[in-house]
Amino acid sequence: MKIGVIGVGNIGTIIADAFSDGKHDLVLVNRRTAKLRKFEGKALIFSKIEEMPDVDVLFFCVKPQDAPNALKRIKKSKDMITISTVTGLNISTMKAHLNGEVVRIMPNIPISIGKGVVGIAYSEGFTDEKKQMVRSLLSGFGVLVDIDEKDFAAVTALSGSGPAFIFVIIEALVDAGMKLGLSYDTSMELVVETIKGSAELLQREGKHPGEFRHLVTSPGGTTIEGIYSLEREGLRGILMKMIFDTYKKAIELQGDSREN
Ligand SMILES: NC(=O)c1ccc[n+]([C@@H]2O[C@H](COP(=O)([O-])OP(=O)(O)OC[C@H]3O[C@@H](n4cnc5c(N)ncnc54)[C@H](OP(=O)(O)O)[C@@H]3O)[C@@H](O)[C@H]2O)c1
Repeated sequence: MKIGVIGVGNIGTIIADAFSDGKHDLVLVNRRTAKLRKFEGKALIFSKIEEMPDVDVLFFCVKPQDAPNALKRIKKSKDMITISTVTGLNISTMKAHLNGEVVRIMPNIPISIGKGVVGIAYSEGFTDEKKQMVRSLLSGFGVLVDIDEKDFAAVTALSGSGPAFIFVIIEALVDAGMKLGLSYDTSMELVVETIKGSAELLQREGKHPGEFRHLVTSPGGTTIEGIYSLEREGLRGILMKMIFDTYKKAIELQGDSREN
């Protein structure tokens, strides 16, 4: 299969890496070709969208502000399936420019190790057979979750941007460990394993997080002291507001990436 990527930045590079295994014909387009150097010999490389040969599946991975201009320059083709990662770019806007079928995805950065989560929405009339083909192309990136297009801003806030928030939380916890005299390495190991283990336990048992929280909170003990502290400081409100502010920005970008 001929696979193209327009916009070989953070996400585009992960996608290009995944398809540079020699099993596919790969075509890459990025404004600055320096970013494409590592793919020399593994892919056809271009700096201008207009120079790009036809492909079967096109990954569209530019920033939202670059999307309207880039879209106009892609050759229309009924036979090409376009898979877009662009935040806020609607399926209808893409369809109007491209003619062919369109898939909108919201990946997150752990797709680089096959542990990401990818929200997916398809343009109308997408056959089950083609959906299966797209899902099989994306399967190496992690867990695939079908999403209503109207929910994309929420998915962007929760899982698309989510890793950045988790990294900030990890950093804060590691710093706290260091303040208590632990080494960076020990603190990091304790924090990361605690987060991984808690998430896996939750997933495996399928229980509400409150049940486990209750289980590890003994009357008059250390954990309830910490819980009291974070409730008093309003951590839940801070986290919910963070997601809501991110959601509002995703909605705002939806307006920016419409044709103008
Ligand atoms: N990063 C994430 O975790 C994440 C997660 C989910 C979704 N997304 C979405 O995925 C998209 C890409 O994000 P990113 O973080 O990968 O951005 P990025 O690192 O800035 O990559 C975008 C790339 O597009 C290239 N580009 C822009 N206009 C172009 C044009 N007309 N022709 C050719 N190349 C062009 C840029 O090239 P130059 O640098 O040379 O100008 C850049 O390399 C965004 O819409 C973002 O919202 C990102």
